[in-house]
Amino acid sequence: VPVLRDGSGALNPVRLVEAARDGEPLPEGALEAFLEAYRRGGEGVEDYHVAAFLMAVVFRGLAPGDLSRLVRAMLGSGVRLDLSHLPGPRVDKHSTGGVGDKASLPLAPLVAEGGLFVPMMAGRGLGHTGGTVDKLESIRGYRTDLELDEFVSVVETVGCSIVGQTEEIAALDRRLYALRSVTGTVPSIPLVAASIMSKKLAEDLTGLVLDVKVGRGAFFPEEARALELARTMVGIGGDHGVATSALLTSMERPLGRAVGNALEVAEAVACLRGEGPGDLRDLVLTLAGEMFRIGGIVPDARVGRERAEQLLDGGGPLGRFRRMVDRHGGDPRIVDDPGRLPAAPVVREVRAEAPGRVLAVDPLSLGRGVVELGGGRTRLDQDIDPSVGFVLHVVPGDDVAPGDLLGRVHAASEPDARRGETVLRAAVEVGPSGAEVEPRPLVGRRVAAGEPVDRPASRPGPTGS
Ligand code: URA
Repeated sequence: VPVLRDGSGALNPVRLVEAARDGEPLPEGALEAFLEAYRRGGEGVEDYHVAAFLMAVVFRGLAPGDLSRLVRAMLGSGVRLDLSHLPGPRVDKHSTGGVGDKASLPLAPLVAEGGLFVPMMAGRGLGHTGGTVDKLESIRGYRTDLELDEFVSVVETVGCSIVGQTEEIAALDRRLYALRSVTGTVPSIPLVAASIMSKKLAEDLTGLVLDVKVGRGAFFPEEARALELARTMVGIGGDHGVATSALLTSMERPLGRAVGNALEVAEAVACLRGEGPGDLRDLVLTLAGEMFRIGGIVPDARVGRERAEQLLDGGGPLGRFRRMVDRHGGDPRIVDDPGRLPAAPVVREVRAEAPGRVLAVDPLSLGRGVVELGGGRTRLDQDIDPSVGFVLHVVPGDDVAPGDLLGRVHAASEPDARRGETVLRAAVEVGPSGAEVEPRPLVGRRVAAGEPVDRPASRPGPTGS
């Protein structure tokens, strides 16, 4: 009888948790049995066993063999699509989680406009970070739970479709993801890598671009850990025959100006109109260039980026986004009139009290602030308020005078708005006028199988406003 089973041969989940806690190798078949019993339910493996196991992995890691088993178990927990009939490359992008990162929304229709097919399975908010599924659900009627045949049909006809995980696809990731989000068990390289790659491998892709966040708003703030995560995921992609590359991108401050679900959708639509913050546009174009490269339709990422810029400015991707929203049952009129998105009843302006220069804007506290305002979850079964969040009016390097607007808090009530103001004031660090603010490039290294780690073609220099 293997050590993790009781006398009758049944799996003993407590022993598996203890083994993971003590960093012992897990016996052959134990992890698969544990996860399968959890997925099926009613077989003695409960949320609390799994939450404890996840916390053990956060501290102890997972042996490479167990990571492969975890990925396979997650992938095998649902259907794998067969999209080989599509007449073009199938390429997706996934981010490791950021604050204000709404890049998937403009990116999917943009690269679809360029001839790629994007069957995107996205996630909900996780910990302090936002999730694409929650953002899209702030569009009245938008269904992120399409039946598989509907999903495939939208990809076929519109070129892109963004859905959440269902009971059919990556079912186990869906459960683990929700549990991790509310148990402080997100920042683990094997857990993040398995979560992302199980969803992406189920999509039957030919290519995948990963946006690995680095900096204080990322799950792995230090570059060395982010690089390890990138290499781990690129390796899993290669093992499964999917051309995969990763870009390390900065999460030292929120991406763009808006943080919070509906507010971010409005900003994503602005990006599709050729407006909106420069850093968001820069990231979207860089990722699109890399997706075109990995899809094999341009010789390199620089040419891909130029192609993306022409397409975005041609306006086609905006129409494609509208069609995608419509096909998902969402109100397409939000594209022309973002005023139709859910709006918070209280909007509070936060103004500078003293002169100075903005030194930093902390994404972590703003991300947590959105959760506190009700825009993210602290319990598994929680509904979220799509309308709340922050819109920033300053970026690092800006000079402010007393009375200048730092940002706005969108909240459900006056007391919430006051708490939001405290969060925003603490997040915007104002130092002495004339202080040096180091420019930080938005896009850093690229990791791809068999290539030295290098720097991709992105706009040089600081990426402000
Ligand atoms: N995105 C995911 O899909 N999973 C994670 O674990 C983190 C970010």
